[in-house]
Amino acid sequence: MTEKDFLPNPYQNWPKEGKVNWKAPSNIALVKYWGKKPNQIPANPSISFTLDACATTTSVHFEQKTNADTFSFGLLFEGKPKPDFKPKIQTFLERIEAYLPFLKKYHFTIETSNSFPHSSGIASSASGMAALALCLMDIEKQLAPQIRDDHFYTKASFLARLGSGSACRSIRGSLVEWGYHEPISGSSDLYGITYPYEVHSVFQKYCDTILLVHKGQKQVSSTVGHQLMHGHPYAENRFQQAHANLDKLRPILANGDVEEFIKIVESEALTLHAMMMASMPYFILMKPDTLEIINKIWAFREATKVPVSFTLDAGANVHMLYPEEYREKALQFIQDELAQHCENGGYIHDQVGQGATKIKS
Ligand code: DP6
Repeated sequence: MTEKDFLPNPYQNWPKEGKVNWKAPSNIALVKYWGKKPNQIPANPSISFTLDACATTTSVHFEQKTNADTFSFGLLFEGKPKPDFKPKIQTFLERIEAYLPFLKKYHFTIETSNSFPHSSGIASSASGMAALALCLMDIEKQLAPQIRDDHFYTKASFLARLGSGSACRSIRGSLVEWGYHEPISGSSDLYGITYPYEVHSVFQKYCDTILLVHKGQKQVSSTVGHQLMHGHPYAENRFQQAHANLDKLRPILANGDVEEFIKIVESEALTLHAMMMASMPYFILMKPDTLEIINKIWAFREATKVPVSFTLDAGANVHMLYPEEYREKALQFIQDELAQHCENGGYIHDQVGQGATKIKS
């Protein structure tokens, strides 16, 4: 599919007003997206587990307006006006206008809330943009009822990508691949796809406990970090490595080989942070407690053979990953040894999920 396939035919219906409501989960990348080309095209393919508990719920009320020259929307975050989110949404609407040509004909009231605590340091852009893209697609479906389900979800992912790259992996479950990679049939730079190959049952119920090391604002945003991959001395090798890691994961995901899975996932996390440290300007998002936790995970795994592992996103928090059968042992370990490294002892249990859901009003 190309961008043109997402341009709609003329709409048949023009409802005066209505309301739609969607819940979209967060996701955690196993092979990381880090570096992009213009128009939100990733520099390399990535793959993620869709999460379950960490999610954004968004409702959009839409009402026809007479002046169709500008975008018009109000925004409530957790019940209160949120002016600092508005520029990001304005940019999003500008990027997607050609694909949703009804946007200037309506006034939107967007109400959004996260299941995870405010300023937990968990990126909300993936789940937030995914939920908003799904709401807008739901409105488009009212204007063009013939839209089929597969197109609905693919276009939602396409739109979400234009809001935040990783958001395109937050539409469906449970493993989503985004970015053209020749051996993965159907893969595209434009949207995420459900991983099309065999996935062993161990990876369909994987657990992710997010250890909240640092809840404050990150000192460097992902968007700035991606830009620093331009002219980065190791960029090309890194992009090649992501392709190679996707290939290596294929038999591992099929066989349920947790030991080999851990090697790739931990290496990906550390490579992501190594890229940050080697960019110009350079920066470090890990905190001392991030490293304490990583070392404790390694020591615990070595001593007990319980296959706990970690990954990181662009921040200090640690995602501890483990098979569901080790849940009790992992939780005990967290309470005994890791919670002390979390800000106010905070952590959130999550697991692999099945993707976004429509909420009936
Ligand atoms: C480190 O999707 O937040 O989490 O496209 O600029 O919005 P933008 O970036 P974003 O980048 C996420 C980067 C990452 C890795 C990943 O999720 O693959």
